[in-house]
Amino acid sequence: MRTRKISRTSSAYTLKAKFADILYHDFENQQLEFLKRELSKLAQRAQACFIDAGCGTGRLTGQVADELRVQVIGLDSSAHMIHRARQLNTSNRTAFKVGELEHIRGNNQYDAIFIMFTVFNYITDPRKAKKAIRSLYQNLTPGGKLIIDAANILNYIDCYKPKITNKFKRAEGTYTQEISHLVDKQEMLMHHFERFITPTGGIIKEHHALKFYPKDILQEFLEQAGFSAKKIKFLFNYSTRKPNNNYPRIIAVATK
Ligand SMILES: C[S@@+](CC[C@H](N)C(=O)[O-])C[C@H]1O[C@@H](n2cnc3c(N)ncnc32)[C@H](O)[C@@H]1O
Repeated sequence: MRTRKISRTSSAYTLKAKFADILYHDFENQQLEFLKRELSKLAQRAQACFIDAGCGTGRLTGQVADELRVQVIGLDSSAHMIHRARQLNTSNRTAFKVGELEHIRGNNQYDAIFIMFTVFNYITDPRKAKKAIRSLYQNLTPGGKLIIDAANILNYIDCYKPKITNKFKRAEGTYTQEISHLVDKQEMLMHHFERFITPTGGIIKEHHALKFYPKDILQEFLEQAGFSAKKIKFLFNYSTRKPNNNYPRIIAVATK
């Protein structure tokens, strides 16, 4: 796979890559079961290959590869995340690359591309998001699947709390995560500010923005990219199709 070389690196992820395995485990089992359900048939194709786009430290990349016995390429725009992903995943079913999901240069060769845990919302410019979906469509084999596990604005508005503190107890001590959100309903944008405090008092600060893409917009982008409306389904959590306003996800599964 060739991806455009990127000069932008996210400094927050320099340090955060070390701790991502602590932070990103909230929905792990549900996510894994969901991916196995959606992708098991495709994994049985001869020489099947998937992409975990925005793979972070590869926590799902490795598990999908092992459990479905399939080749999975983990792609992330942060070199630090990829470095950590390589340390944590040594199976020869996985490979990791630095790159942006908007610039995957393949040629109808991937059987599935999955974008988990709000990574798609990091693309805050809707024109770029739309273009990204078009290019992802082109990278899929016929019958291949694109899965976008996006943030659901209803969750952030209905369950809005100015500040959230999470504690993670580990053998070496307690990690504290302090999150504050600023939701701009007009722009459908959320600013995420975070302080992550290690047991030795180290502080990592992060800010990123998430753009919300409601169901109708995602549907439009997917159809304009070439997916047939009949082959697009939406889920509002990983296990049922029932909308749930309190659930933080809106998941699009589109088959080429
Ligand atoms: C919330 S983490 C999710 C990681 C992983 N998908 C998981 O579920 O554990 C977001 C990740 O997306 C990556 N990312 C953000 N924008 C990206 C883009 N345009 N292309 C590829 N990776 C991106 C970040 O570097 C970060 O590692």
